[in-house]
Amino acid sequence: MSALPGSAEGTAVTGLDSSPVDPAPADLDPIPARAVAEAREIIARYPQPRSALLPMLHLVQSYQGYVTPEGVRFCADQLGLTMAEVGAVATFYTMYKRRPTGRHLVSVCTNTLCAVLGGQRIFDALADDLGVHHDETAADGSITLEHAECLAACDYAPVVTVDYEFYDQQDVESARELVAALRRGEKPSPTRGAPLTDFRGISRQLAGFSQHADAAAADAAVDADDELGPTLVGLRLAAQRGESAPFLPGADKPTEPVGPFGAVRPAGPGQTTEQKAADTAQAAAGTPAERSGAAQAHPDAPEPAGRALADKDDGTETPAGSEPGTSGQGPRKKG
Ligand code: FES
Repeated sequence: MSALPGSAEGTAVTGLDSSPVDPAPADLDPIPARAVAEAREIIARYPQPRSALLPMLHLVQSYQGYVTPEGVRFCADQLGLTMAEVGAVATFYTMYKRRPTGRHLVSVCTNTLCAVLGGQRIFDALADDLGVHHDETAADGSITLEHAECLAACDYAPVVTVDYEFYDQQDVESARELVAALRRGEKPSPTRGAPLTDFRGISRQLAGFSQHADAAAADAAVDADDELGPTLVGLRLAAQRGESAPFLPGADKPTEPVGPFGAVRPAGPGQTTEQKAADTAQAAAGTPAERSGAAQAHPDAPEPAGRALADKDDGTETPAGSEPGTSGQGPRKKG
């Protein structure tokens, strides 16, 4: 039985999912014979064959644009797994697509910071232009659009990725222009990182194979120049203001033993037995984890922000950050 998880047939196989899945297009190319050798190459990277499942799913996506019923069976056959096991993984991760994708996958971050700065407006505008909703593909097959959770580039918000390459600090107009260019067959340069490929190309890279013809082309495609401007703005401001961070507990051990607030003071008459013991434990800590634990347990360690606020409170009002829906970062009410 060949069934994609998510289809009615697939539900019978996996027992896990009943969301609709489009049938495979009639003109879908089959997975080529050379994929067997590539699968063996992937499997050889791991001590256990089943550990190769994630890159194998990217491999079948690189050939067919999504995880088809044939792709599920291919992975199961190559890895000695059941189709249900493959389906359980393929339906868990959003990077594995369960219906045909467009030439490019456009992901719009609508998580908190990007949403506040316009991510949702960008998504809505692109959805209008393309005539699609989340996880749907434009009628011309050019673009699949999706909401994305935090893309780990909050300092560049609002962020859009195309085939997982970053287009930083977008607004509605720039994102519309980007998508229009993609639909014309252009490949605008990402803000940073490697040049844009397409969804099948990036799937092949995620399977661990180069899509470039030779080493020179691959070298040229890695890591375009980037000024790291938004990432480093805090560092630049600190330098201008002459500010520096205190020693971070758990960081590499400096040449002089230090405590949470700087150099460990010599034991003296002003120290309690507890402080002396904590200083000794901190100086003897050998690993980052031990140093971090010793620093946090030190009696001189700073109180967590929430506790400090609560301790200062007179008990007549809810401390900032304790009320549902508050971050605790706003001003406190004056008594
Ligand atoms: S919230 Fe959008 S990248 Fe983090």
